Order: sequence, then structure tokens, then C-alpha cells
Amino acid sequence: MDVFRIEGPVRLSGSVQINGSKNAALPIMAAAILAGGKSTVSAVPNLSDISVFSRLLEKLGCRVSRNQQGHVCIDSTVIDNPVGEYDIVRKMRASICILGPLLARCGRAEVSMPGGCAIGDRPVNLHLRGLQELGAQIHLKNGYIVAEAPSGLTGKEIFLGGPFGSTVLGTANVLMAATLAKGRTTIESAACEPEIANLADCLNKMGAKVSGIGSPRLIIEGVKRLHPVEFEVIPDRIEAGTFMVAAAITAGELALRNCRLSDMMAVVDRLRNVGVTVEPKDNGCVVAGSFPIKPADIITQPYPGFPTDLQAQFMVLLSLANGNSVIIEKVFPDRFMHVAELNRMAADLRKEGPVVIVAGVKKLIAAPVMASDLRASAALVLAGLAAEGTTTINRVYHIDRGYEKIEERLNPVGAKIAREQA
Ligand code: EPZ
Repeated sequence: MDVFRIEGPVRLSGSVQINGSKNAALPIMAAAILAGGKSTVSAVPNLSDISVFSRLLEKLGCRVSRNQQGHVCIDSTVIDNPVGEYDIVRKMRASICILGPLLARCGRAEVSMPGGCAIGDRPVNLHLRGLQELGAQIHLKNGYIVAEAPSGLTGKEIFLGGPFGSTVLGTANVLMAATLAKGRTTIESAACEPEIANLADCLNKMGAKVSGIGSPRLIIEGVKRLHPVEFEVIPDRIEAGTFMVAAAITAGELALRNCRLSDMMAVVDRLRNVGVTVEPKDNGCVVAGSFPIKPADIITQPYPGFPTDLQAQFMVLLSLANGNSVIIEKVFPDRFMHVAELNRMAADLRKEGPVVIVAGVKKLIAAPVMASDLRASAALVLAGLAAEGTTTINRVYHIDRGYEKIEERLNPVGAKIAREQA
């Protein structure tokens, strides 16, 4: 297992290229199941989660490779084993998004029921309810979700909201299944995340008829078949937001290339609120930070609200503000594994249920810390950039799930991050 040793504090300055979005790439790769043949997906980041997902598709019968340009090629001509195995699903919950496309293509799917993870319980009841509304018979067998629709699926009006609002991968599953259903499906309270819009655009390019893209009401006119596609994934707004905080917390200046500010308005709003400058430039932006950082309140919400996937990173930034901030987590109320680790670095964070009160401190102090989930780990890297001394982060594989070689991208702009074998 690798560890990071991070020397701080540093000031970042320079330019960073933002990669394609992991959370857009995964459902788009799953969409390739819907049409037999060779699809090519470009701007897929080279991450361990993508490798795991490729293996999952291969187990179904697909052939997956990266070509010389780095594009992911998926040949889904043969799908002879519509089973999402426990050994893969337990490593990556996003595997659940093969359920809808497998059911639509094969009339049957078995996918291991995902368990909880470091960020909470993470049920999939809405995914299952949506597919049942389309006519699937679903039961649980030995820890596997068994979904069957031997005579195909039928379009329906479906309300997909849950206690925490819309569901991103639940919307992806029902949307993909509905493209091949008979008749019209309406998904009310659909997720509006740019990653879902990107998936819907991809499905339309495959021959689907999806409208209302980007809105909470998706309308899908079922078609008989879809065809393979060449499609490009959008830039990763969460990676961009993480690098924006890196610039801000080091009082540095970073130009981010390949970054869509229009997907990040809530994030840009919070950054400007605390005194960070964010200016659009070419196909990206320039972010400049300076001290003092002003305190601010953050409430995470489904898109277009502030993303839960940037909550941990902003907690680090607000830890160094000159006053008190409040962070309320309304998507995953238990997503606070980073709080205790940041307190070990001399942050002053107090958790009360889904709320964290952040008392600004003058400085963070390096310590050995443990990466827990992907975004919490990214927050520890940010803390390490700003803290005095050498921060050691254990279990770096969590970071590698979602950030491609983060040290090789931050070191050229002034970070001092060494990857070592523990
Ligand atoms: C996606 O997870 C992302 N994953 C997560 O990113 C992200 O944090 C999350 O959306 C929210 O934005 C991928 O895209 C691969 P949800 P997903 O279903 O779809 C509740 C990262 O760090 N819910 O939108 O699994 C759920 O418990 C990852 O990159 C139900 O109640 O999340 C939560 O409170 C982590 N029943 C809320 O809805 C369900 O059936 C939103 O979850 C499904 C969800």
C-alpha cells in the first residue's frame, strides 16, 4: 500500500489540465451494454475505478481495451453472463449501474446487492422501485438482486425522489432501461447532475429519444434498438473543484484547463464568497487565493446545489478561515470520516449529527493521517499542502480511485508530494 509524504506549506502556481469525469464515464461505459457492437468513449480518466469497471464489463462478455489515443473501446457484441459479481461490486458500488442496461438488453440481470461504505448506508431501493415500475420482477437471492423482464419493459410515469432528493445512479439505471422499453417513460424528480445530462446525450447519440435533459423531468420514448457510439466524457467538475481549493488554500494561482464553470456555479459562488477569485479563461478558468479566507456556510444538495463530493475539501479550506463556518451535509448525513483526521492536524471541527461547526484556526499542523474514502482523502492532501511540516497519508489507494496521479499533477505547480511504499 502506498503512502504520501507531503511537505507544507507550499504556494501553488501554474496550470493544470482537468481530466474527464469519472462519475460520467462509469454510466456511459455501462450504456455500451445497451447496443451490441463496438463503442468508443474518449476522455475516460485512467483510474483504478475505471479498471475495476472494465473488468466488470469483461465478466459480462464484453471486450474492453484502451486504444493508442487513450480512448476506451467496448465491444459489447456478446453478453453471455449478465451477472455483476460480489467480488467486483464490493470494491465499487457504482457497479450497480449495469443493472438497468443488462435488464433492458438481456431481459435478466443478477447484480450483487451493494453494501454500505465509508460515506454511509447507501441503499438502492429507488433503483429497484424504478425498474419494477417499468415491469421488472425483482427478488433477492443469496445477496444478489435478481431482476427479470422476459417480455421486455414497458414505459411508465415514475417518481424517483427519495428522502434525500434525487438519486444519481438510480436515475442512470432507470433512464438506460427505459430507452429500450415499449412506449413513453417519464422520470419525475430525476437527478439533474451534469453527469446524467452527459449520459442522456450519449444515449441520444446511440439512437435513444430522451428529452428534458438537465431538468428534473426526463421523458424517454422507447425505441426498438440502439447502436454503438463514439462519445466524449465531460470534464470532471469534482476534480476541478478540488484543484480550485488547492489554489485557494495555498494562497496560490492555478489556471485550470478543460473546466466547465457552468457546471460549478454553486462551488464558484462559495469560493468567491470566501474571497477567492475565479475568472473564466479560454476553455477553463484562473483561480487565485489570498489570506485571510472569510468564513462561509455550506449546505450540500443535489445539483445544482453544492456537491457533497466537495464537502470535505471545502471543510479544509474553511478550517483556515478567520471565523466560524457551518457545513450541513444533506446528501450523505454520515459523510464525515475526515473530521477526526483533520482535527489531528489541529483543525477545530465539531460534529453535531449532519452538521459540522468549523472554527477557523491560524494554521494546520502536519500529522500522520488515514485516507478513508475518495473525497475525504483528497481533503487530507489539501490539508497537507497547507499544514506546517510533513503530513503522511496512509491508504493512498482511496485517492487513486478518483484522481489520476494527483502528485504528478500537483508537484509541477509547486506541491511537494512523495509517493512511497509503506
Ligand atoms: C453518485 O452516487 C456518485 N457516484 C457519488 O460520488 C456522489 O457522492 C453521489 O452521486 C451524490 O452526488 C457516482 O456517480 C459513481 P445517490 P449515488 O443515489 O448515485 C439516497 C464520489 O466520491 N438514496 O445520488 O450512489 C442516498 O442514500 C462518489 O465520486 C436512497 O435513499 O448517490 C443518498 O442519501 C461517492 N435510495 C442520496 O439518495 C436509493 O435507492 C443520493 O444518493 C439511492 C439513493
